[in-house]
Amino acid sequence: MNGNGITDFHSHILPGADHGSKNRETTKRQLEILKSIGVERVVATPHFYPQIDSVESFLEKRAAAVERLQSIYDAKMPTVFPGAEVLVCPGIDHMQHLDKLCIPGTDVILLEMPMSGWSAEIIETVRRISASGLVAVMAHIDRYKKTEIAKLSLECDRLLYQLNGSAVSGFLGKKRVNELCSALPVACVGSDIHGADKKAAAELKSIWQHIEKKGINLSECASTLLERALKL
Ligand SMILES: [Fe+2]
Repeated sequence: MNGNGITDFHSHILPGADHGSKNRETTKRQLEILKSIGVERVVATPHFYPQIDSVESFLEKRAAAVERLQSIYDAKMPTVFPGAEVLVCPGIDHMQHLDKLCIPGTDVILLEMPMSGWSAEIIETVRRISASGLVAVMAHIDRYKKTEIAKLSLECDRLLYQLNGSAVSGFLGKKRVNELCSALPVACVGSDIHGADKKAAAELKSIWQHIEKKGINLSECASTLLERALKL
């Protein structure tokens, strides 16, 4: 691993951990697809829903999924780092063991906002998490409305942002990605792959190349975020 390849910072590839991969065969195919487009490192980020799960049971389920992955893993596959995609609920910063949802070895936590209805309390929760010493990264910020993003970024000045590959597609995709990269500290990109989805991988490659051409060094950002991370 030299760190020059693509880093997929958001993926659903752990077999049986969530609806991203139902079995080992799907995971193997996902890793082959990601490898084929130049992915060198993948952060596996199964969903964590605080309203229905506890940190302890999530980590147990993730550990079992990691074991299943290890049974089919070979060294030619991208390097995999365990993580989580944590849905923000009001007051989640007070939840015990929130820090255990960081990528192991790091203080980096991937957060996800609800699709709508960002109350002041939800935004304040994100602000407290990002000011607490954790490095909070907001997942697929491209999915949300400009007005919501503006409120969030105004309140949470230490927050980093992740874009999904799909953001670059479509008639106005590149323009929108350019606007987001100019307005926000975009630190990483992800396929958000569910199933053996070649399109998600191809879009990841497109957005990676597009953003690097703009002068944002995604390889370096990923290396910094994953500097102390433990591999599977
Ligand atoms: Fe996701």
